[in-house]
Amino acid sequence: MHRNTDTVGLEPLTEGNLALLLDAAVAEAHPLEVMPPIAGAPGWNAERRRAFLEFHRGRALADQPVEYTYVITVGGRVVGAARLQPGEAGLEAGVWIGRSDRGRGVGGVVAERLRAIAAEIGARRIVAVTTVGNTAARRLLGAANSTVDGDTVTATVALE
Ligand SMILES: CC(C)(COP(=O)(O)OP(=O)(O)OC[C@H]1O[C@@H](n2cnc3c(N)ncnc32)[C@H](O)[C@@H]1OP(=O)(O)O)[C@@H](O)C(=O)NCCC(=O)NCCS
Repeated sequence: MHRNTDTVGLEPLTEGNLALLLDAAVAEAHPLEVMPPIAGAPGWNAERRRAFLEFHRGRALADQPVEYTYVITVGGRVVGAARLQPGEAGLEAGVWIGRSDRGRGVGGVVAERLRAIAAEIGARRIVAVTTVGNTAARRLLGAANSTVDGDTVTATVALE
């Protein structure tokens, strides 16, 4: 599989690109990869699409945002999202990329950019939570200090 990292961009999430992010999620991701679970029938039905929009409107797009969210682009095409949420342990990071663009180095570029943004914001560490079996996410976290609790891996990346 070829690498595809030359043209990776991170743009702040806005009302203007939110619909494109939803399109990418619907076409290229499982709901549980991109939003918290909601009750009801599975899949990208109208209710879940609405919940995806409301989720972001209640977080990065809220009057008092609780996190920074960035739309990930490859050659100008929206392929996923990354977030940084301030918390007591540091800035919590999360990333999802659409299936067709996974495994091509995009996540690696995004992780590097998130570290740069976090350092610029003045954060001392990034915290990320993933599962034991998520090899790609665990590799992205590289030399991070990790603790495992059951199926959950919590990794801390020091920025100093
Ligand atoms: C996790 C995720 C963001 C990684 O992004 P990506 O663009 O696929 O990752 P990259 O291609 O940059 O690869 C990152 C590393 O993982 C490895 N990797 C990628 N896909 C892999 C796979 N399927 N199996 C094993 N290793 C894999 C790469 O070789 C690379 O390792 P290296 O840095 O040692 O060379 C992406 O796969 C994704 O969105 N997955 C679904 C959502 C998710 O799990 N998000 C994370 C939740 S915490």
